[in-house]
Amino acid sequence: TYIVTDNCIKCKYMDCVEVCPVDCFYEGENMLVIHPDECIDCGVCEPECPADAIRPDTESGLEQWLEINRKYSEIWPNITEKGDQPADAKDYDGVPGKFEKYFS
Ligand code: SF4
Ligand code: F3S
Repeated sequence: TYIVTDNCIKCKYMDCVEVCPVDCFYEGENMLVIHPDECIDCGVCEPECPADAIRPDTESGLEQWLEINRKYSEIWPNITEKGDQPADAKDYDGVPGKFEKYFS
């Protein structure tokens, strides 16, 4: 499966949503997550993310993010269309520690 990782937080560009063939993105206030059981591993969303936040879960060190994607995709609503990007998205691109400060 592919998963969304921390640089999505407060960037939330949502380009990923437009390309997913199975609509498996779920929307929190500050980021999206992927439902790991619904993702068919097609990989098309990964290069679409301007924040480089989407990763295959086979990459090392992403166990925490796999759990977050699994947990919150069960809680947050499904999103199938790109909404308005945050006006200050660029200010947060690459900022460290976003999970601790802004995850929601
Ligand atoms: Fe959707 Fe494919 Fe991305 Fe999985 S890898 S979230 S199926 S676009
Ligand atoms: Fe987030 Fe990238 Fe999608 S910033 S909303 S994973 S396009």
